[in-house]
Amino acid sequence: MEFVRATWEKDHEYMSIVGDLLKDEDLLKLDNITHHRYTTRLVHSIFVSYVSYKITKAKGLDYVSTARASLLHDFFLEEREEIELLGMGSHNSAHPKIALKNAERLTELNELEKDIILKHMFLCTLKSKAPRYKESFIVSMVDKYCAISEVSQPTRNWAKQFVGRLQTRLSYGTQI
Ligand SMILES: [Fe+2]
Ligand SMILES: [Fe+2]
Repeated sequence: MEFVRATWEKDHEYMSIVGDLLKDEDLLKLDNITHHRYTTRLVHSIFVSYVSYKITKAKGLDYVSTARASLLHDFFLEEREEIELLGMGSHNSAHPKIALKNAERLTELNELEKDIILKHMFLCTLKSKAPRYKESFIVSMVDKYCAISEVSQPTRNWAKQFVGRLQTRLSYGTQI
């Protein structure tokens, strides 16, 4: 994730779009919550936001709404077990609704931004309707890509080190 952090922080246009949101104390609390096992909910949200911003900008779509709403797509402070006790349904179907409420308290949202937050779990729960906009669909796919990337990062690091050690030993003709 450090690669992402170094990249987005230096991107002045991206920061001018989301900078006001990143000053919010409640949103910053997401950095204290572990997400997808190896990262924080804030870093995950920025990862999704930055990748979605780059894709939608390249495709001539509404990258401003995309960058802002995707940063807020997982804006909830509760743990999985706490959400399930709220009686709003499973974690997968409930947390986008909680994130939308929190996002609306923080900033005014247009219809596209609401759709991005509400539909980001498309295909992960039967309760999520299909995204209405191309941008919402892109964010829902980027969210899945980022989640898989985050969860598999330690395994990929281990595999890379193993291959490195293997190559070194083979080049010296030693046994593994
Ligand atoms: Fe989510
Ligand atoms: Fe997410």
